Amino acid sequence: MVKDNQIVITGASGFIARNLRKYLSEKNIKLISISRNDFKQFKNEHKVISKNYNEKNILSKIKNSDALIHLVGIGKQSIKTDYDMINIEFTNNIVNLCKKAKIKKFIYTSGLGVSPNTSLGYFISKYKAERQIINSGLNYTIFRPSYIVGRDDLFTKYLKKQIKKGKIEIPGSGTYSFQPIYINDVVKIILQSVLQAKFRNKIIDLVGPDCITFEQYVKLFSKGTKTIIRKINLEDVYYSAITNSNSDFGVDDLNILIGNFKGNHNKLRKITEMKFQSVLELLKSGRLL
Ligand SMILES: NC(=O)c1ccc[n+]([C@@H]2O[C@H](COP(=O)([O-])OP(=O)(O)OC[C@H]3O[C@@H](n4cnc5c(N)ncnc54)[C@H](OP(=O)(O)O)[C@@H]3O)[C@@H](O)[C@H]2O)c1
Repeated sequence: MVKDNQIVITGASGFIARNLRKYLSEKNIKLISISRNDFKQFKNEHKVISKNYNEKNILSKIKNSDALIHLVGIGKQSIKTDYDMINIEFTNNIVNLCKKAKIKKFIYTSGLGVSPNTSLGYFISKYKAERQIINSGLNYTIFRPSYIVGRDDLFTKYLKKQIKKGKIEIPGSGTYSFQPIYINDVVKIILQSVLQAKFRNKIIDLVGPDCITFEQYVKLFSKGTKTIIRKINLEDVYYSAITNSNSDFGVDDLNILIGNFKGNHNKLRKITEMKFQSVLELLKSGRLL
């Protein structure tokens, strides 16, 4: 059953996509993976390189696939790429491509905190992307993830770098919290959503079993190292985010952290019937270092 499936993945070299492609390839699923730049192929994978996901280049290659998993997205804007272009318009193009290619299932990773009441530009763009998908008539599953943890995600890489430098800075009090979920669980859930009818037309929070404060997270992550942990004034961190596009935290990274968004882990556990990796345990074991 799994063997006969063919799945299209956009944004193939991103963090979630890299881990998902590896997992699906190991499950012998046929993959068509699209990226703007060249990347290393896995077993059963067909590679498509396209700067702008031009229909002419892509349509014939993805036709009649079983599902498309749309993992292109940005969380930081610039004058070249903004949320309207990438999170909204780009998603709309992919939805249309999906329909033309007669792909019936669309899977999207939105964001935890997205709601019709949001005032945050990032979440507004994700909300509008969600609405386009819902209104498309395609069979969809929309996930709203908290922070997804792996050995190679951006935040983990950032913390490892800081540990090497001997100092981690916490923006503000560090008492705001989140519900991280392990990438190995996420890839399993995404495959379930492709294969199982109970995920049809659902919006589901992608959140782990533990709520962890930022301070607690950083302390556990760097446990056993000689790293100095220092709290820094939140105004200073925001100032740096606003005025320097290369700052460690972007404006919306900070907004999301301070927003303290929580999701419904019980609903996720019920629908997936999975046993989840506790990120707290993962941190305590030192396996992320
Ligand atoms: N990771 C998390 O904790 C988390 C949490 C909530 C939501 N999400 C959402 O999940 C999705 C994937 O997340 P991720 O962590 O894997 O992000 P990521 O590592 O930044 O990957 C996103 C991918 O999007 C593609 N992309 C970026 N800018 C683009 C552009 N201008 N044109 C075309 N493609 C572009 C790139 O793929 P190529 O380089 O292959 O072209 C990039 O690797 C995003 O929509 C993100 O908002 C992630």
